[in-house]
Amino acid sequence: MASFRTAILLLTPAVLLAWVTVAAPGCPEHCECEHGTLIVNCSRLGLTRVPTAIPANVQQLILENNNIAKVSRDNFRGLKSLQFLDLSSNQLNSEGIPADAFDDVPSLQTLDLSDNRKFEDFPTYLPSQLMTLYFIQNSLKHVKKEAFANLSDLIHLDISYNGVESIAPGAFHNLSNLAVFYCDFNKLNDNGIPTSVFQPASKLSILGLRFNQLTRVPVDLPPGLEHLDLVGNKIVELPSRVFSNLTELQTLEIWQQPSLTTIDDDAFAGLGKLQILDATSTGLNRVTGRTMDGLTGTWQVYLSLNKIPAIPAGAFHDMKNLSSLWLDANLITTLSPEVLDTSVLPRLSEVYLWGNPWTCDCHLRWLKEHIDNNNTAPTIQDPHLNVCNAPPKLKGRAFDTLSPNDFVCS
Ligand SMILES: *[C@@H]1O[C@H](CO)[C@@H](O)[C@H](O)[C@H]1NC(C)=O
Ligand SMILES: *[C@@H]1O[C@H](CO)[C@@H](O)[C@H](O)[C@H]1NC(C)=O
Ligand SMILES: *[C@@H]1O[C@H](CO)[C@@H](O)[C@H](O)[C@H]1NC(C)=O
Ligand SMILES: *[C@@H]1O[C@H](CO)[C@@H](O)[C@H](O)[C@H]1NC(C)=O
Ligand SMILES: *[C@@H]1O[C@H](CO)[C@@H](O)[C@H](O)[C@H]1NC(C)=O
Ligand SMILES: *[C@@H]1O[C@H](CO)[C@@H](O)[C@H](O)[C@H]1NC(C)=O
Repeated sequence: MASFRTAILLLTPAVLLAWVTVAAPGCPEHCECEHGTLIVNCSRLGLTRVPTAIPANVQQLILENNNIAKVSRDNFRGLKSLQFLDLSSNQLNSEGIPADAFDDVPSLQTLDLSDNRKFEDFPTYLPSQLMTLYFIQNSLKHVKKEAFANLSDLIHLDISYNGVESIAPGAFHNLSNLAVFYCDFNKLNDNGIPTSVFQPASKLSILGLRFNQLTRVPVDLPPGLEHLDLVGNKIVELPSRVFSNLTELQTLEIWQQPSLTTIDDDAFAGLGKLQILDATSTGLNRVTGRTMDGLTGTWQVYLSLNKIPAIPAGAFHDMKNLSSLWLDANLITTLSPEVLDTSVLPRLSEVYLWGNPWTCDCHLRWLKEHIDNNNTAPTIQDPHLNVCNAPPKLKGRAFDTLSPNDFVCS
């Protein structure tokens, strides 16, 4: 009896939901509607045209994963409340969007045109009041000067996964409201990003250039930038003061970049607000006492999987807020206790050191003692993964199989 009641209780909302989503009056045939007809979802129906008789009060119209190659003004006539239109994964191209296609949708803010592989050009006619445009996974190669000229309200633009090779000078001229620009997984090289091209986008806060083919950091980026993603490029060197105009930057991601061998002294000068530096898995082979200069506010530093052979005693001492430090999987053979001195770095709480070829002699005895002596302030994470590489008689021995007395100099 009890389980019968439970079944009724479980079933009721499902039945209700089914009624709400399928049987809503005015929902176009085969489509699913929610909240009456505020959301009309006609995805994956094999449609070659936008369905007729879409309810006039619709706010979100989802037409993704169909075979629509063309839209027209008539398709959207009277949809004055339409804010969100998803046309991703269809067969559209620029010719499929005539000049007046969006003249009747004054509220449209978000348009998704992703994964319409026939777009070799950026569409000429888009509604000028758009705030968010997804143009991911199309076939755009060159961003022309006039591509975004009418989109002065854009806040969020994503053209990732297109094969973009170049952006024309002036392309961002009218994008004075743009806050987020993702251009990840494209083919931009240094010449593909003209000097100052992003600067007119003075409100730009997030710039994603992940997995392109840049060999250097673009200069003259908008000074208000807060998040810069240069992951997976072919950058070779970070020259002195290369980020010095980016005084608002909070995160800098340059990981997965084996080509990056050199970070010059003062490369990070000016980055006093940077919180997170992620330089995991690069070719970095040297850290000096001044490599990190300028990073006074940084609290997470990722330097795992690099080729760093040694850490100078004061390398991180400017970072008064440093709390997490990743130095694992480098070529470090020994470490001075000053590097992790919590009287200079009061917030330092966790440090990753495993995967380095430690020379387990008297100079490293302090580390073994620290780990054995409660391992706090800071905590050495996964201490048992620290293994000696030298002297010969300790080679291959994990720290937790040794006692501090084994760490001796001859
Ligand atoms: C639209 O419907 C499809 C198929 O039923 C579903 O997979 C998708 O999550 C729905 N989309 C939204 C935004 O509700
Ligand atoms: C750009 O906007 C202007 C004024 O609103 C309009 O006359 C022009 O046709 C638009 N151009 C494009 C390419 O949409
Ligand atoms: C875009 O910028 C050009 C100058 O580059 C200007 O002539 C045009 O009016 C601007 N368009 C809009 C819609 O702001
Ligand atoms: C910093 O800004 C100045 C003035 O706009 C500019 O000349 C210089 O090239 C910028 N530096 C970098 C590294 O972008
Ligand atoms: C350190 O962190 C505190 C609290 O999170 C913050 O108020 C302070 O501004 C930071 N110091 C620096 C130099 O960024
Ligand atoms: C050891 O660490 C624990 C947890 O961090 C702490 O509660 C304890 O007081 C420490 N003991 C000593 C002797 O420092």
